[in-house]
Amino acid sequence: MTSTDADRLIIFDTTLRDGEQSPGISLDQGEKLEIAEQLARLGVDVIEAGFPIASQGDFEAVQAIAKGVSGPIICGLSRTAAGDVDRCWEAIEPAARRRIHVFIATSETHMTHKLRMTPDQVKAEAAAGVARARGYTEDVEFSPEDASRSDFDFMCEVLQIAVDNGATTLNIPDTVGFGIPEEYAKRLHDVRSKVKGDYVISTHCHNDLGLAVANSLAAVHSGARQVECAINGLGERAGNAALEEVVMAVRTRSDYYGGIDCGIRSEELARTSRLVSRLTGYPVQYNKAVVGRNAFAHESGIHQHGVLNERTTYEIMDPASVGQGESKIVLGKHSGRHAFADTLKKMGYDLHGDALNQVFARFKELADRKVELSDADLEALVAEEMGDTVRYRFQLVSVDCQGGSNTTPTATVVLDHDGEQLTATAEGDGMVDAACKAIKQATGITGTLTDYTVTSVTGGVDALADVALRFEVDGLGMPGRGLSTDVVEASARAFLNAMNRIVRIRDSGEDPRSVDRPGSLSQR
Ligand code: KIV
Ligand code: ZN
Repeated sequence: MTSTDADRLIIFDTTLRDGEQSPGISLDQGEKLEIAEQLARLGVDVIEAGFPIASQGDFEAVQAIAKGVSGPIICGLSRTAAGDVDRCWEAIEPAARRRIHVFIATSETHMTHKLRMTPDQVKAEAAAGVARARGYTEDVEFSPEDASRSDFDFMCEVLQIAVDNGATTLNIPDTVGFGIPEEYAKRLHDVRSKVKGDYVISTHCHNDLGLAVANSLAAVHSGARQVECAINGLGERAGNAALEEVVMAVRTRSDYYGGIDCGIRSEELARTSRLVSRLTGYPVQYNKAVVGRNAFAHESGIHQHGVLNERTTYEIMDPASVGQGESKIVLGKHSGRHAFADTLKKMGYDLHGDALNQVFARFKELADRKVELSDADLEALVAEEMGDTVRYRFQLVSVDCQGGSNTTPTATVVLDHDGEQLTATAEGDGMVDAACKAIKQATGITGTLTDYTVTSVTGGVDALADVALRFEVDGLGMPGRGLSTDVVEASARAFLNAMNRIVRIRDSGEDPRSVDRPGSLSQR
């Protein structure tokens, strides 16, 4: 590809080279191959597979990718020294299409403190390295490292030398993330005017100021036709430009970028991101653009209502187009009745009127305490609220407990009994026992708790506790169920639920065991 492919953006993926330089990442050969195969499926144009001179492991991994992965150009990184270039070529030679990426720093600080070379030595090195690489392949990329802090005229002299010695791509690395979009874009634009020849101009931006994607896009707007980027924005320090963000920005705002496009199969983006995250051990932040798990999740009632009516009210990309399936309606404390009813409907519960209001009220109460409610939570909630037709005589207003290794467990409950408040405090063997005793005192109903199980509805420390128990009074046993983020409260709810059933039977005089025993419940 040359500078004449004006509408084509080359996606150069450096996940396996700069990305692998992220602190703490070390991929073995099998893992690198797996990622490279997925990158090929994703449709990247170039895979920078590694830095072959860096280690035997790096060399072998690059070579394995060159042998095993077809489709993209396989590129290896190399300093200017002859030995580096030779080793790089040896590693990439088996590939059908290969590129050598030669680099040397051109900033004052790098030349003085790192290379310990004069500007003339750097020029000579650039010429020699590029010429040697060109002896092996027609596809040679050159990077003046720390370009954005380099003296512009000197950098252009070096770039011209690179072109004159055969470089076909000139990459302008913002090595330390120092660039600002307008300034970086101008630098690339000015390179194009100053350095003569036929070459593709490329960006390589680091994210030290959080500007890697913005700088890369500004460069594209000013004429760059290759973007070096990495999946999930991996790379040295704060990382490189995130491939998924660059691609989706150019696609979504193709009006702004003049219709330029790339060969990425965007439906593979989420899968690629997950694979890279799993193999590198670097988590993807929840709110990460494009591939984060919340990138298409809506929590506030207004947004949910909008998206349920018409997805584009609050989404500029189709989640399916980046492999994220459907928009997600996350039920939490900001959600409205509309989204709540819709979610229940999709789960098979078609609630309306009072039934919906009753479950929605409990949902809001729970959502205040639990950040996100899953389908399993909702199922348990509906089962608790709609599982019977009990008219609640006793309702839990509050339960407060004290306890610990050296304190006697004590609970105070406040109940509502047909508009009247009942309060009682009791001690127990544990806080659940204390709460049940306090409820017995407040209601005046004695009896025995026969079965008690508590299960966690989902994982995590804020999981809902689902308590199922059986309460027996004078031989009449009734089940009760309660749900809360707090085990004691879930137990108190379950206890009251069972008690309300018993009260209903007592009030109706319909003892299911015997019609002879109405009103036989003992009351204190
Ligand atoms: O950031 C950088 O300058 C690099 C070069 C090797 C291109 O990664
Ligand atoms: Zn870099």
